[in-house]
Amino acid sequence: MKILHLSDLHFGANQAGLGGAGPFSKRLLGLSNLKLNPKRKPDPRVQEAIINQALALDWDYLILSGDLTHLGTKPELDEARTRLEPLIKKAPGRLLLTAGNHDRYVLQSLGLLEKTFGDCFPFNQNRVGIPHLITEEGWLIAELPMARPAWGAKGQVQLEYNEVKEFFLGANLPVLLYGHYPLVWPAGFREPFTHSLWAREQWAQLCELAPVAAYLHGHVHQNWAFEPPKGNYWAVNAGGSLWSGGYLLTLASNRCLPPQPLWPLA
Ligand SMILES: [Fe+2]
Repeated sequence: MKILHLSDLHFGANQAGLGGAGPFSKRLLGLSNLKLNPKRKPDPRVQEAIINQALALDWDYLILSGDLTHLGTKPELDEARTRLEPLIKKAPGRLLLTAGNHDRYVLQSLGLLEKTFGDCFPFNQNRVGIPHLITEEGWLIAELPMARPAWGAKGQVQLEYNEVKEFFLGANLPVLLYGHYPLVWPAGFREPFTHSLWAREQWAQLCELAPVAAYLHGHVHQNWAFEPPKGNYWAVNAGGSLWSGGYLLTLASNRCLPPQPLWPLA
């Protein structure tokens, strides 16, 4: 089974606005940053190249691990939907999403992603229970929803740890897991407090205890793929997709083969 992993595509920078948020909203700060610092604006030509490459590749599932937008407004999400429509049509029900902190920038963003991309959350439209699906090949693909509106950019898994652990251990299937924030960091990187995940170490343990073959995420705008010292899985960050492309993963038997970087872009 082939998985294409992309992240942090930040669509709709030209559509970003306050979206009904007030003058003291975090969105005003984000919008000012976007307008005053053009380097923060993703290049639509690069986004298009990534989409074209994804259309040309063979994959069974495409996972976008958050930050489809910059400020989580409806116009940005509509733009993201339009741009991703060819990929959604290529493989209905096989483009899987999770929200990034930018998609839940403020309280007004809550629910907009799920509303705009209902068919990209095929496992639980009503967001109850552990979001997962079981593939024909016998893999359990599960989302760890992590993003929530906050003044900083800290994330928190919106699930109960023991419930998820018991579910994974009881399923007796290899697991492909994805969320927005890193659970482990490569040597030499330090997790910034304001962008960190609550109880990250505990959730990282889940990948050691349960039969997780790979954990896919974004959030940090760099790419990396490594096997953490503990556990038997790949930690894959495609947060640098706009600069370095994404990753193509092959899931064979109950393990993940070394992720293949998709660089250079077409
Ligand atoms: Fe991002």
